[in-house]
Parts: sequence; C-alpha cells; structure tokens
Amino acid sequence: MTSPTRREFLGGAFALMSAASIRLPIWAQTVASLAGAPAAGPLLLGVDYYPDQTPEALWEEDARMMAEVGFTNVRIAEFAWALMEPAEGKFDFTWLRRAIGILNKHRIAVILGTPSAAPPPWLSTKYPDIVEVNEKGERLHPGGRRFTCPTNQVYRRLSLIIASEMAKTFAETPGVIGWQIDNEFTLGSSQRCYCNYCQGGFQTWLRAKYGTLEDLNRAWGTVFWSQTYTDFNQVPVPLPSGGDPNPGLALDYDRYQSYANVSFQLEQLDMLRKTCPRHFVTTNNVGLVDTINMRDLYEKLDFTAFDNYPGFFDMLMAQQGKAGPSAFVSAAIPLGHDLARSVKGGKPFMIMEEQSGKAGQKTFSPQPEKGQVRLWTYQAIAHGAMGVNYFRWDTATFGAEEYWHGVLNHDRSRSPGYDEIKQGVKELKALGLEVLYSTYVADSALVFDYDCSWALSIQPGHFRLTYLDQIMSWYGAISASHSGIDVIGPEVDLSAYKIVFAPVAYVMSEKQASRIRSFVQGGGMFVTNFRLGVKTESSQIVRTPLPGLLRDVMGVTVEDYVPIYSAKNGVKFSPALAGPDAQCALWTDILQPAGAEVLASYTAGAHAGQAAITMNSFGKGKAVYIGSDLNEPSLARVLRTLSGMAGVKQPLEVPPGVEVTVRKAGDKQWIFILNHSAASQALNLPGAFVDLLSGEKHTGTIEVGAYGVRVLQA
Ligand code: GAL
Repeated sequence: MTSPTRREFLGGAFALMSAASIRLPIWAQTVASLAGAPAAGPLLLGVDYYPDQTPEALWEEDARMMAEVGFTNVRIAEFAWALMEPAEGKFDFTWLRRAIGILNKHRIAVILGTPSAAPPPWLSTKYPDIVEVNEKGERLHPGGRRFTCPTNQVYRRLSLIIASEMAKTFAETPGVIGWQIDNEFTLGSSQRCYCNYCQGGFQTWLRAKYGTLEDLNRAWGTVFWSQTYTDFNQVPVPLPSGGDPNPGLALDYDRYQSYANVSFQLEQLDMLRKTCPRHFVTTNNVGLVDTINMRDLYEKLDFTAFDNYPGFFDMLMAQQGKAGPSAFVSAAIPLGHDLARSVKGGKPFMIMEEQSGKAGQKTFSPQPEKGQVRLWTYQAIAHGAMGVNYFRWDTATFGAEEYWHGVLNHDRSRSPGYDEIKQGVKELKALGLEVLYSTYVADSALVFDYDCSWALSIQPGHFRLTYLDQIMSWYGAISASHSGIDVIGPEVDLSAYKIVFAPVAYVMSEKQASRIRSFVQGGGMFVTNFRLGVKTESSQIVRTPLPGLLRDVMGVTVEDYVPIYSAKNGVKFSPALAGPDAQCALWTDILQPAGAEVLASYTAGAHAGQAAITMNSFGKGKAVYIGSDLNEPSLARVLRTLSGMAGVKQPLEVPPGVEVTVRKAGDKQWIFILNHSAASQALNLPGAFVDLLSGEKHTGTIEVGAYGVRVLQA
C-alpha cells in the first residue's frame, strides 16, 4: 500500500468530518488557516514563548525563527500580570498586542494564558491575606508563584478582573485562538490551603453538602472525642490539633480544596465563554498529582492539556531515592498521558509543555539522548495527544528557571534538541490531522480514584503505603502487556473493557460496587487487591465483613488484614499463575474463600497456607482478589496472565524497552512503535506494513533504531 499524498489525506479527512456532520469550531478553522492548511481541524504544534521576558527588538526574529521550525502556535503571557496590570486597575496590553501582531504576521497563532498563578508584588503587598496557609498553619510568602489561597475573594476578584480585561482586549484579535486558564493548579510548594477563608468556604460547602448538622455529625461520627458540632461555624480545618483529625472531616476537606480550585477556575471559564466564544479554553497540569480531581477540573474545558517532563521526572525520582531505569520511573510518563486522555473520556489532548532540553530549576536533568525529544513527542501522540507545545522557546538568562533549557540556548543558538523538534513538527504535519485526532485503542482500564488516594493518605495503614505508588506499579505491570489502558474514574461504565484493574479500592460507593457487579456479571474480569471496600464515602469503616459491598462478587471474606514490617511473608502460586514464590512487600489481606478458587497462598507466619490470591466466577465473568502486595516482577507476571485470560491481545510482540500503542479512525489503524532503549531493536511483523514516517514498506522483521519511532499502517 502507498501512503496518500498530503493533499489526498487532508481532502479525505475533511470529507470524513463533513460526512460525520462534524462542525468545526471557529478556532479550529483559524488555526488551520493560519498554518496554511485547508480548514480541516486544529493543528497545535507550537512552543511556549515569553515576549514579556524578551527584548522587543528580538520579537520579529523570534517569530521568523519559529516559523522556520514549522511551529503553528505559541502560548504566552501566563506569568505576565505585573506587565499587564502594573498598578491596580491600570492595564497595559499594548506590548502584548504588538507581540501578537508580529507572531500573527508570521502565521503563528496564539494561546493566551491568564496570569493568576503569579500575582504581582503590588497586589500581595496591598492584600497580604491572599497568601496560602500550609498544612502546619504557616503562612506562605509572596515572591515565588502559586502562593495564593483558592477561596480568598479578593484574589479571586482580582484574578477575574485581569483575565476579563485580557479577554475583552483580545477577543477579536487576529491570531488569538484559545486560552490557558492559570498555570498548573495542582502544583505548589504546599498542597492545600488551610486559612480562615478556606475554613469559611469549607463550612459553606458543608452546609450545601449535608443540609443539616445532624447529617454531618452522623456522617463523620463526631460523637467520638466529643466533636459534635452545634453550629457549622464551629467546624475546623484539619490543622495540627493534638490528635489526628476525624477521617470524615479530613476527606471532605480534601474534596473541598479540589472544589475550591475548580470553582476558582470556573469563574474565569464562564467569563471567557461569554467574552471569547470563538476561542477554545483549557488549563495545564502534570499527570500524577492528586491534589485536585482532574475530571472535575477539565469537565467544562474544551480539551485536556498536560505538561510532560520525562527527564526531569527521572531526576526527581532519583532525588527521592527511587532512581532507576525501573518500570516505576518510565511508567509515570505514559500513565500521565493515559490519564490526560481518559480525563475527558478518550478525547485527544494537548501537551502544553514538552521537555525540549535539560530541565530543572536548581539542579537539572541531563540533556536528553539523541532522539529522545522526538521519541517523547511521539509517545504523547501514540497515547492520544493531538498537539504538542515545547517548553520553552529561548532559555531564560534570569529568574528562577534559568536552567530550564528551551529550543534556543542562552546565547540564542540552536539547542541540541532543535533539529529533532523541527523534524517531529514536519513529520506530524505530514501524518496529518486524521492521525492526531484518531482514537486510542484500549481493552483494559485502570481505576484511579481521588477519594481512595485522599482517604489512604489520611490513614495509610502502613507508613510506606501510598495510593499513587500502587497505581504506578500496577500501571507499570499492566502497560508491559501493551494492550492499551484507559485510566478511569469510579463513575465510568465498565462495559467497554475486557478487564478492569482497581488497586486499593479503599473507598467504595454503592454505585461503584453495582457497576463492578454488572461488569463481572456481564463477562468482564475485575482485578483488585488488598484494602478493598474498607470505607464508605463518609470514610467510615463498613459494618460488614470485608470486602464490604463486593463480598458476593469476590467470593471471599477477609479474615484479617496485616501490614508487613519486620516479619516476612511470601506467596506460593498455583499452576494457573505459575511462577517463582513471591515476597510480600507492605501488606497482606488474609482471604477466606467463599466460593472463589485459590490461586496463591501465604508461605509463612500465622497465616501460612491460607489464601493470598483468589478468583471467583460470578455471572459470566471473573473477580480476582490479590490479597498481598506482590513484588514487581511477580505482580507483572500475574497481571499479564490475567489479561491473557480475559482475552486481551498484544498488537505486536515487542522486546523490553519497546512500547507499542494503537490508534484508529474508522477502519484505519496506526501502530506506534517506540524504542526507549539505547540499542536498535528488531521486531517481527504479522504482515505487510508501511512506515508512514519513512515511506518504506516492511514485512517480516523491522528494525527500530535507538530511541527510534515507527508509525505503521497495514
Ligand atoms: C511547568 C510550568 C512552567 C515552568 C515549567 C518549567 O511545570 O508550567 O511554568 O515552570 O514547568 O519549570
């Protein structure tokens, strides 16, 4: 088969969209026409740019050089509050208008960032109460960024004013196509705010949630330690108080903080929808941070935008003693992508910031290996991205991020990643919008539930047990099967999947339990582990034997639950999961089968010989309980064996270090092969394929070079 020409491809894509009666939003048409293409959809292959930090004499050269790379757009102004509003109520957008004009002249479209992540000194001096108070009760200090309280009405009002002034000014400006609200809501030096304003906001939120104090007192069990509230005004925030907080209160507080940030964002979003109906709106975040429920944050936005720094993340892990080229480290990146896509039910997402060189503030990651910047770009596309912006255009010579290297070096020469970025942009344009907007194929789902993460951080049970670590190691184990994974919330209907993994499903609502029950009854495989169904949504412990609401589905009761400290325990597998005995790491749930088949048993201690892993037939499906925290290789083997039993197939057999994903549109499929290793790798193909990047035809064996990429079509 020969690859279509670009003209044939775009014609086809356009016809397809018209046939499906897809009406393109105006911003999609604007971007496409700016990029010189027919109006087939938004093409976002750009760069994060700081004209506010660059002498004006260089703007023209910047825009010309960006156009030379092939960039279609920039994101600008998200930290430029002090220049746009130099004194309260005095606005100056003239410089920004000039910058946008120059960019537009070079056919570079503009995503504007609202600047609420970095309020200027005049503001924090005049309104010192806007600062956040951390979990120890200490006030943060202005001078950095993201030091603000999400509830504070003054901060919210002033943030909305500057965003509204920007919106009014640029609603009709040629070249402006969309908005990024704020910047990385989820990331600050302190995770949540505990100030008086948040206390007031929390009390109001509780009034709306519970209606009456009787209901609140019952939900939290406030009779314990004499905490019965007789007025909503008495409810505290969980600051240090001589004893641990009420778990129900603490979980509700995490929910409130997530809500406060989402509602802060919604104020700007509502305004932007009214003032700039022709523009798209999104916000950017990094993947695995659990401070804000991303599903709520992105619900009303047009698409998800995530920031992706694989090399920086590696360095961070090394700093935390989790170094390695381990599955743990590498899993974080595709997991972030899969979360970004799944947050909006599979809709293609954008990488708003992609690492383009050495990255870090005080210390920095090494220069990515030759090929890695392009590889990371394709990894995002392979997992469902439709656009990529590189961070950042030029490398700053001042400020806290002088060492966060961009597309240009400090001296404005081309960075080592420049050529790869240019190559990637050219290739992605040639691959075209049909690929960028195609659907990611997933037969498996991993449940990522913020309530479980929050409740488990409040009472981890073991000082090393964290929900995020469990999610990461399960994702790492499953992703090795290359079956395609969606990272879903507990509210998602499961019927689209063959197998659903839900580690540490600690908080279980009745609705979720009934979704799982119907999924298994209908023929799905549900795989979970210890601490299943321990807590109600109010963070009370269920009054039934564990695993609570799912006892019938799992076909077991939990006889005891045992954290592992100095005593060691192990697991011996039955032939169905055959493999060497495993070591239990942090936890063991001792299982008492009530109909379920035993797939592994404990080898040591008081519970030697008792069930450690069980599988229950329920309706047409299976429910698997992994009672023990298995070490990594055993977990990977067990989860992959179960995937196989559930009928999940790998699109291609690939050697370790190579990743494969599939995207599809109608009856077309694209197979992405990504070699994350420093050596060339050979793979066997199950037929004849064209590599759309090289145009070469392949049958039999195909080589993928070090850090290389193939995009195959049959
Ligand atoms: C992101 C952030 C950017 C910049 C970048 C490099 O997390 O959104 O503003 O700080 O990291 O540090």
